[in-house]
Amino acid sequence: MQSRKVILSGMQPTGGLHIGHLTGALKNWVELQNEYECYFTIVDLHAITIRQEPANLRRWTLDLAATFLACGIDPTRSHIFVQSHVPEHTQLAWVLNCFTGMGECSRMTQFKDKSQKYPENVNVGLFAYPILMAADILLYQADLVPVGADQKQHLELTRDLAQRFNSLYSETFKIPEPYIPKVGAKIMNLQNPTKKMSKSDENQSGVLFLVDEDNQIANKIKRAVTDSGAEIVFREDKPGISNLITLYHIATGKQIEEIENEFAGKGYGEFKKAVADAVVEFLRPFKVRYREIRANEEYLKLIIREGAEQARRVANKTLAKVYRKIGFVAL
Ligand code: TRP
Repeated sequence: MQSRKVILSGMQPTGGLHIGHLTGALKNWVELQNEYECYFTIVDLHAITIRQEPANLRRWTLDLAATFLACGIDPTRSHIFVQSHVPEHTQLAWVLNCFTGMGECSRMTQFKDKSQKYPENVNVGLFAYPILMAADILLYQADLVPVGADQKQHLELTRDLAQRFNSLYSETFKIPEPYIPKVGAKIMNLQNPTKKMSKSDENQSGVLFLVDEDNQIANKIKRAVTDSGAEIVFREDKPGISNLITLYHIATGKQIEEIENEFAGKGYGEFKKAVADAVVEFLRPFKVRYREIRANEEYLKLIIREGAEQARRVANKTLAKVYRKIGFVAL
């Protein structure tokens, strides 16, 4: 147990998850827990770098915990916790702030993107976002950090900060490696199939949320934008149909070629109906588990309380080391 390598990853509670999360990040997390000691955190401190409605933030935090469990993250093996329940994250982040150059943060492409997207709220938290993320990771001496490619730059900053601290003082932090999973099938927005499906898309009718009702899922698929022509083939000039083929592949496990053969000579309408039925069936077992778990807030809170307790035991050790090395007086 002790010698298992450590994984830490996080997700923001900023909206409902969609089918792409289930088949991408979460599927990976579930597999990783067989081999690694895993910490999965719901990063509410990161979420408030963008203005959030308090009621939504509260709901989404528990929704996300229930989603983790419903997907198969096993709380007897992995630690599920909420970032704000472990004050060491903010404490270490402050220290790391003092070791990070302004220039390092202003180079972050996500900061640039988000300040453009929300020009009315370019706050200091948004600027320091990657430093808090570094604290998340370094507190647990994580070996590996599963993230999407968009987070790679933040991981590099994390490694730089860890190395900087280690060489200024002495070996304190494990230098984490990014773990960027082989991209599985990428799922695009049904209304705009050249854009990746995203939980914060303005156009929600193109996003298949995990908690959508069966008829909502079916309707979204039936209304999906399709391409000119009538062939059901996976091809670059047919992003709409290709995306539906991807969904059908994910839902049924059938290979692309097999799917093209199955629908050769058939119309878009018939194909969409088949995709809708398959996706609804694919999501059903997840939804049944999710509803049951989400309805039991007492249980959910027990899981995240235990997760936070375990996380604090580890985080506290790292923070104490850091405080001692920089010259804070221990009592
Ligand atoms: N920034 C990550 C994202 O938006 C979320 C995150 C916060 C994270 N802290 C983390 C991911 C630590 C991995 C490790 O996807």
